Formats: sequence, structure tokens, C-alpha cells
Amino acid sequence: MKIFGIETSCDDTTASVVEDGVKVLSNVIASSIDLHQTTGGVVPEVAAREHLRQISPVVDKALTDAGCEWKDIDAIAVTTSPGLIASLLVGINTAQTIAYIHQKPLIEVNHVHGHIYANFLERETPPQFPILVLTVSGGHNELMLMRGHHDFEKLGETLDDAAGEAFDKVARLLGLGYPGGPIISKLAEAGNPEAFSFPRPMLDKENRLNFSFSGLKSAVRREVEQLKKVDDQIIADLCASFQQAVIEVLVDKLVLATQEHEVKEVHLAGGVSANGLLRKIAREKLPDKLPLHWPVEHIFCTDNAAMIAGAGYFSLKYQPSS
Ligand code: KG4
Ligand code: ZN
Repeated sequence: MKIFGIETSCDDTTASVVEDGVKVLSNVIASSIDLHQTTGGVVPEVAAREHLRQISPVVDKALTDAGCEWKDIDAIAVTTSPGLIASLLVGINTAQTIAYIHQKPLIEVNHVHGHIYANFLERETPPQFPILVLTVSGGHNELMLMRGHHDFEKLGETLDDAAGEAFDKVARLLGLGYPGGPIISKLAEAGNPEAFSFPRPMLDKENRLNFSFSGLKSAVRREVEQLKKVDDQIIADLCASFQQAVIEVLVDKLVLATQEHEVKEVHLAGGVSANGLLRKIAREKLPDKLPLHWPVEHIFCTDNAAMIAGAGYFSLKYQPSS
């Protein structure tokens, strides 16, 4: 079964054809990241206009790259929430139009569920449920227990900023550009993670599986304001110390969740799952026997329509009436 996926929830206009939920036949991504460099973050109005400009060529290319015609496509899957509303509407309108013209079923996909299904794309071994998933992105930060296909229980979430958002805001504070995650993790390679002592938020018992990163971001701001000079080494040290604090909190809670819930696999999903330190520390701190997965390809970590088509396939298969 071939599903055509469309994803426009933030700053990437993307379309894809995925076969049987896992085999990626095409995955076209047009990013408007360059337009957001000057503002240090996504401006919703600018992103929506760019989606309008890109959506038709991206859809055409996704179909051609997959070697398909509309008659070969079984259903259209589209991200309907959460996301920037004007951006989402571009994808939703496009998907509705295609579904209407070509008489295909339309599948609504939750963006976070899409990130979770990114871990199933091009995997060689079938997943073993139950799976514990840490979804960490610019817009979301959750611990999810997945008992089966489209059977999710949210165990914890951020009470303010998501981890990716914290990376983006700290990068803006330091004048480093957007998106902050890849820039900070690169600069951190030359820095000392113990140079600055930043808080490890929400490690108290009551909020043991929830997250909060806005205080950490403020702690970085206070530290920067007190500095007399800021040279390249200090920037690298700030990046390394901040990154260490975020990753330690994410991994501590991930480990805690595996102690409270019996799971067969642990997954990292979303933009921040591309972070090398997160992967390394998670592997070190989780029990050796517990399989740890992250998306097979780097482009499956950040926003892409293949994950939406994948999630759409499993939704059609396991929840046909929804
Ligand atoms: O999944 P995604 O493309 O969009 C959302 O759904 O939000 O994730 C983008 C987020 C950004 O906040 C970006 O800074 C972060 O993922 N990110 C990273 C890395 N690569 C992307 N954060 C930390 N380390 C990275 N290597
Ligand atoms: Zn995302």
C-alpha cells in the first residue's frame, strides 16, 4: 500500500511516498530555514507564505521521485496538528484537494505521532512493543509509552519550553543563528561541559517525568550578562555546559521511565534525537540489554513527510474507522 504524505506544520514544506509504512520511495523537503536566520526563529507569517510558494513543486517532485502516478497512491496522509496554524492549513488544503480530485481516503496525522513513526522507517527489524519514546523537538518534548500501533500513553511532557526550543533560544541569546541545536552541539565540541554550572531542572519527585527548560535558558542569560568578556572559548564552554545540562535531564527521565514501565525498546524521536551527546549518554545510562533506536537517517529526525505517510499507513491499518 502506498501512502502520499504531506507535512507543513513549521518551516519545512515536505511531501513523500511511503510503501507499507516503512519503505521510503521519495521524501522531498524544501526548507525556509534561511529566511528565519535573521530573526533567530520561525516567523509564522513568513513560513506560511513560503509553504504556499513551495507546496505544488514539492508535491509534484515527491510523486515523480517515487516513480508513481496518482492512480498508484492508496491514500493521502497530512499533518493536522499541532503546529503553526497558517502553515498547517496550507498542507491540509492541499491534501484535501488531492484527495477530492483523485478520490482517495484522507488520513489525519498528529505531528508528534509522525515523529514517533519516523523510527519505523527503513528499519531492518520489526519493532517490539511496548516501546518508550522520548519525543524531543522544537515544539514538543514528551515521554510516550507506545503499547502497540497508535496506542499511546503520555507519561510526561514539558511544562514550558521544549528541549529544541531551549537550544534555539540559547543560540539566539548568544547570537549564533537558527536552528540552535546543530550549531550549539557543533560549538560544544570545543568547549568544557563543566565550565559553567547550570541547573538540572525538574529532577524532584513530584514532576519526575515532566520537563522544564525555561529556567535553564534564564540561567544561561544571567551568566552571559555577568561575563566581562565573551570570546570563542567562552561561547564554546557555554554551549557545552548548557548542552550537558539539557541532555542529562532528558536521559535521567528516560532512565526513570524505563524503571517504572517495562518496555522492550527505547526510541529517541524528533529534531533533538539527532544530537550526538543525547544518543551517547542515553546508550551509556540505559541497561545494556535494552535496545535503543533513533531514526535510521538524519532527515527522519527533523520534520519530513515520510514520517507522516508512515504514521498514516499504520493508522489506516490499525484504526480504519478513525
Ligand atoms: O522536529 P523538528 O524538525 O521540528 C519540530 O517539530 O519542532 O525539530 C527541530 C528542532 C529545533 O529546535 C532544533 O534546534 C533541534 O530540533 N535540533 C537539535 C539538533 N538538530 C536539530 N537539537 C540538538 N542537537 C541537534 N543536533
Ligand atoms: Zn517536528
